[in-house]
Amino acid sequence: MGSTRQFMRILGYLKGHELEFGIAMILVVLMSYTNGVIPVLIRNAIDKGISAKNYDVAIRYALLIILAGVLNGAFSFSARYLLTKASQHAIYMIRMDAFRAIQRHRMEFFDKTFSGQIISRITNDTERIMAFLSFRLRMLVYSSFLILISLYYMLRMSGRLTLVAVVTIIVVVMINMTYIKKVRPIYDSIRHQTGVLASLVTGAIAGIKTIKALAAENYSLSKFDKDNEKLYSLNVKATKITSIYGNSPFLVLGLSMSAMFYYGGKGIIAGTLTVGELTAFLTYMLTLMWPLRALGFIIGDMQRTLAAASRLFEVIDSAPESVDAPDAVDLENPRGEVEFRNVWFTYEATGRTVLKGVSFKVKPGEKVLITGPPGSGKSTILKLIARLYEPQKGEVLIDGIDVRKIKISSLRKIVAYVPQEPFIFNRSIKENIALAKPDASMEEIVKAAKIAKIHDFISSLPKGYNTVVGEKGITLSGGQRQRLALARAMLLNPKIVLLDDPVSNLDLETERKLVEDLKDILRDKTALIVSQRPSLARIVDRVIVLKDGRIVEEGKPEELLKRESIFRELVGGEYGG
Ligand SMILES: Nc1ncnc2c1ncn2[C@@H]1O[C@H](COP(=O)(O)OP(=O)(O)OP(=O)(O)O)[C@@H](O)[C@H]1O
Ligand SMILES: [Mg+2]
Repeated sequence: MGSTRQFMRILGYLKGHELEFGIAMILVVLMSYTNGVIPVLIRNAIDKGISAKNYDVAIRYALLIILAGVLNGAFSFSARYLLTKASQHAIYMIRMDAFRAIQRHRMEFFDKTFSGQIISRITNDTERIMAFLSFRLRMLVYSSFLILISLYYMLRMSGRLTLVAVVTIIVVVMINMTYIKKVRPIYDSIRHQTGVLASLVTGAIAGIKTIKALAAENYSLSKFDKDNEKLYSLNVKATKITSIYGNSPFLVLGLSMSAMFYYGGKGIIAGTLTVGELTAFLTYMLTLMWPLRALGFIIGDMQRTLAAASRLFEVIDSAPESVDAPDAVDLENPRGEVEFRNVWFTYEATGRTVLKGVSFKVKPGEKVLITGPPGSGKSTILKLIARLYEPQKGEVLIDGIDVRKIKISSLRKIVAYVPQEPFIFNRSIKENIALAKPDASMEEIVKAAKIAKIHDFISSLPKGYNTVVGEKGITLSGGQRQRLALARAMLLNPKIVLLDDPVSNLDLETERKLVEDLKDILRDKTALIVSQRPSLARIVDRVIVLKDGRIVEEGKPEELLKRESIFRELVGGEYGG
């Protein structure tokens, strides 16, 4: 069965802590025993001590009751400690596995999965498994054994009263299971709605500039208000159900204790039951109340824990074992030639074919501008060279070798890809540059920054390379971000450089300066630059014009500009200005 397998797999993460786990479970059983035996001790204290007017015996049992209580506390404490320790370690391992898997996942996975969902897998789902291992499982074993031990002693005292107890147990467990069935969908909605609110807040913060610029605060507010209100009414509904079902077990308990008084009283009068025995039964009912409620809760929750586990394991299992093909090679001393051979590419997430038989070749050291209207597939071409995606048909080759046959570690050293919107991490500038090589020396980092011509700016900051950028740190301008991303790309001294729209969002002066510097930066490198800006045409050897996933024009920039060409139309009169 699927759930048994999930269950065993969770337990498998306790590896290395089996002893702790085993001892904890034994302690839990002992806990049930020390708790379940107390009513029997009470019975003896009454029947053999108080009723028999035997003072010493009464004291002896009183002391035994205290001892049982103390032992119970000690067992409970140790079991809890051992179990929490073992399960914290298990959760640590599960989280590592999940995070490692996320790093291994291909881009398609992230295209298809909301980041909120992935975050929820790693935080909520592991939390749930944690609660199961450390708390629920303990309660399950404890409650089950306590009920069994109690029934055993009850049965030895009175069959009739035991029947009353069994009926009570069944009714209370059923009430609790109904309660959970009713309240669960509401709690699910509450959790969902909380997520909605959280994403509204995140969105509002991330988009605060746009919201303020458009004076859209009221729209944003009323949307939040509506969803906030929804969450409020859901919570009210849940509270209502909880109040009703939370108290009804006590009504059942009251009824069953009355029944016990009735039958027990009759038994005492008839001499078939002792006062101590009746007291023991009543004590049992009070003792069992909490474990019974917990049991209904745990049984109802088991399926959900296993569902959380299977969702989490799905993230882990669906990640490719390794990004490299078994016959992948290291590419030593690359020349830096790039070739597309009849490449067809479709994004899995949308099923749209965005490259339709693209073929071209870039010689080592050549600089090529890829241009074309928005959505024509320019960025996609770069992503295929960096092997963020793989074509469904055709081949992408570097030095004549299919990129799928090059070890990814080797490919990352040869190809530097600067995305359209480079991500700057909320860390120091140094760390941001050294992303691809965390152990890079300071000299290497400074050298990369100098190549990207951002060293002077960094040096002018009070904290220099240790300046934290991003949230709560300094905010970089568009041009500075581009140069930081360039420095990051230059660190590994790549042979092939892919720049996606490096001068978008820059003012004319910054653009002019960057283009001028790029000439230097890209010397003796193969470069593919995606851009709509004419300024870049000045520093490239060749232009490829893309339209709707096909190459529609190709040539030297000067030649294309001389004649009636699509490129000239795209660039208009701006070129050379
Ligand atoms: N991760 C993705 N998942 C699904 N579709 C995508 C993805 N990335 C891009 N697309 C789609 O593929 C097509 C080509 O996108 P691409 O980013 O290559 O265009 P582009 O030429 O770089 O455009 P722009 O000039 O606007 O940057 C577009 O229609 C786009 O919507
Ligand atoms: Mg693009």
